[in-house]
Amino acid sequence: MEDVASHATKEDCWVILHDRIYDLTHFLSRHPGGAAVILKVAGRDGTAAFAAIHPPDMVDILPESACVGQLDPEAAAARKASAEVDPEEKERRLRIAKCPPLEACFNLMDFESAAQTALSPEAWAYYSSGSDDEISLRDNRAAFQRIWLRPRVMVNVLNVDISTHILGHPASLPLYISATALGRLGHPDGEIALTRGAATTAIPQMLPTLASCSLKEMTDARADGQVQFYQLYVAQDRDHTARLIRAAEDRGCKGLFITVDAPQLGRREKDMRMKFIEEAPKEQDDSTAGRNEGAARAISSFIHPGLAWEDIPWFRSITRMPIILKGIQCGEDAVKAAHAGVDGIVLSNHGGRQMDTAPSGIEALAESVAALSAAGVPPGQMELYMDGGVRRGSDIFKALALGATAVGIGRPLLYAMSAYGSDGVVRAIRILQDELIMTMRLMGTPTVQDIQPGHVNARMVSVHSSSVPEDSLSRALYKPLVAPKSKL
Ligand SMILES: Cc1cc2nc3c(=O)[nH]c(=O)nc-3n(C[C@H](O)[C@H](O)[C@H](O)COP(=O)(O)O)c2cc1C
Repeated sequence: MEDVASHATKEDCWVILHDRIYDLTHFLSRHPGGAAVILKVAGRDGTAAFAAIHPPDMVDILPESACVGQLDPEAAAARKASAEVDPEEKERRLRIAKCPPLEACFNLMDFESAAQTALSPEAWAYYSSGSDDEISLRDNRAAFQRIWLRPRVMVNVLNVDISTHILGHPASLPLYISATALGRLGHPDGEIALTRGAATTAIPQMLPTLASCSLKEMTDARADGQVQFYQLYVAQDRDHTARLIRAAEDRGCKGLFITVDAPQLGRREKDMRMKFIEEAPKEQDDSTAGRNEGAARAISSFIHPGLAWEDIPWFRSITRMPIILKGIQCGEDAVKAAHAGVDGIVLSNHGGRQMDTAPSGIEALAESVAALSAAGVPPGQMELYMDGGVRRGSDIFKALALGATAVGIGRPLLYAMSAYGSDGVVRAIRILQDELIMTMRLMGTPTVQDIQPGHVNARMVSVHSSSVPEDSLSRALYKPLVAPKSKL
């Protein structure tokens, strides 16, 4: 350790990652997240900071010569057993101790409130941010509140069955965990905590390309019969993309969700500003790479902006998995997707993180169903999903009434995981199950097949000026964007 500690400058920078010692001096200027984050752990064990962002196999991108040694395994094990807890982990545990007990969470917004305490400011900024003025982010919630329910009474609702099928696979309710990058930023178990929560509650999980766990870790954690899908960011390098798809298929993923709304990552200013604050005092870092880009942009520079409709047959030619396009945002593109012969689409604005003032997923769903019908696309030819702002069982009901097979959720489960690990994920999903059962009972729809367009009044969903009663829970939790502070 003393030897490693003597290489702690930008001219000579060694870092320990997963018990191996790397000379990162030449990599500093090429690191997409900037040199400063590496220099922060120069001469030390940087595993905790590395693992929060990267899967363990990410070190394979370094040339072999970068590895200058390995910690003696016995000494490394003894060090881990006796060593003080990593300072960042220590801080995390202190923050977790301040969270309310899990039993005090009664709705999905309660998890968001707990996560504001549990997460580091950097992780909070990355998870919670939306793009530009965050108008689409807020409208994802508000759009559900512009849709009103039309309950039916005198229906026998003694037994309510909320189970369904997603891409032909059974699910305990019409819900899947959508792909969200960088799980270990919120919890040391990362995406695996979501895998465990999904297994306990019997819903599918979509694995992100940019997970902080490796594909092997996430698929090894799968329980018997558990369903996982794979979310794909298409890289410039076709061979690399093909390898990702084959690996996902070989490892048992049951559907390929190609993200189509991110040829460039949106400007997420909370994330960018946090990165700037983090790095600003590091006077010794004269590299500008990634300096104020935020976590999101730093990890996504490989995404190919050239992805186009003509590429669909190529995906078909290399996989047997059903193909679903994630991030369709208008009726015209829904029709194009149907004509392209994909198996499904997700109406989504990426949790309000891409094009600001793009419509919410629920609004795009209503528009797309009408457009598909007008274009003569037979209902059921293509499965429809939506995500963005789903926080209540009644939101799931509204999406189903408008034509969705199921909905995805992102942030609420990241928040539940960050504050309470997989127990939190399970409780959050159970809350949605309870709320959906109650909604279906009060709506007079004992099964998901009974839910019909006539159960909702969605006339106002695309009217953005309508006033709706204040949603005090999510409003109170929303942290407005801030301007830079003056030096005086
Ligand atoms: C922190 C975070 C990371 C995300 N990462 C990805 C990603 O890597 N790929 C992707 O297709 N979508 C990603 N998304 C979008 C989600 O899959 C989903 O569309 C969105 O979170 C749904 O909105 P909700 O958070 O309101 O539930 C991410 C969302 C968040 C909040």
